[in-house]
Amino acid sequence: MSNEIEPPLALLAEITHRCPLQCPYCSNPVELVKAADELATDEWLRLIDEAAALGILQIHFSGGEPMARGDLPRLVAHARAAGLYTNLITSGVMLDRAKCDALAAAGLDHVQISVQDTDPAGALRISAYPDGLAKKRAAALLVGEAGLALTINAVVHRQNLDRLGEMIAFAESVEAQRIEVAHVQYYGWALKNRDFLMPTLDQLDAATALVDEARARLGGRLVIDYVIPDYYARRPKACMGGWGRRFINVSPSGHVLPCHAAETIPNLTFANIRQHSLAEIWAGDPAFAAFRGTDWMPATCRACDRREIDWGGCRCQALALTGDAGAIDPACDRSPAHAELFDLARVASGGEAVVRAYRRMNTR
Ligand code: FES
Repeated sequence: MSNEIEPPLALLAEITHRCPLQCPYCSNPVELVKAADELATDEWLRLIDEAAALGILQIHFSGGEPMARGDLPRLVAHARAAGLYTNLITSGVMLDRAKCDALAAAGLDHVQISVQDTDPAGALRISAYPDGLAKKRAAALLVGEAGLALTINAVVHRQNLDRLGEMIAFAESVEAQRIEVAHVQYYGWALKNRDFLMPTLDQLDAATALVDEARARLGGRLVIDYVIPDYYARRPKACMGGWGRRFINVSPSGHVLPCHAAETIPNLTFANIRQHSLAEIWAGDPAFAAFRGTDWMPATCRACDRREIDWGGCRCQALALTGDAGAIDPACDRSPAHAELFDLARVASGGEAVVRAYRRMNTR
């Protein structure tokens, strides 16, 4: 039954690629969508209705910076009225009291605020945005005052991993319920900046021990999500819970993708919500079928007893590391490319501490 198409769980709505920050590990594609090409409000409203009809339970408003769109409260209210759980994934730097209250009144359930670093100089170096940390702290406190659930997203890498303890303390200080400690994933912008971002093995070991200690100390008061980064792992992650299985990602211009990096795969084309319904795309689009279930897998994966646990890992990473999106994810120790991955990480982690490419709209 592994290839049966169940309804998706969640929609990641990337409503804009506009963002005041320029993080060199941004998960957006390198070719960013311009404001003039974004879906209009009515198109997003229709998409939300289609998502609810398809059985989707959660909508994550993301970007870019989703607060760059003035219609965000309207989209949130519409999603909530359609019965969806609503989550806002934001940098926090545009979230003042009036906007927070408007989003709470619209029925927003949950907010995730990213933190680049607890060292202001480090945060500036990553985001190229001055005073971001102070604005994020203020925004996080407003979220709590508005009675909304709060998660802190700490994206970690070589330049900030030594301050992981301070990032956990930041989450405690703003009374977040959860902190996601997310190692950078190396495709798109982050692949361009891998030598700058890759942590050392010593840093990773120290961070893992620190998370163990913090979990024991904090109990359930602050939940810490943490996984070992792929380059140092023995088993791949079930990226997106399996391709075309749990998540749909819609780009600012309406392209419907199985994951945020899917457009890096050169031989796939993606349908647009302007021409097709979400239900048609989910059930029949060849790009979703390409790596759905287990039939597409190499023989090694098809014979593996974890094939319906990790669902073959990450296709975009397989492409980035082997040139073949259908290959075994090199994060798996059964991949012929696995042995090289650790060496690659070791070399990259000794790389020059220089940002090669900030995430900028005009960068090509
Ligand atoms: Fe595309 Fe993992 S990011 S499959």
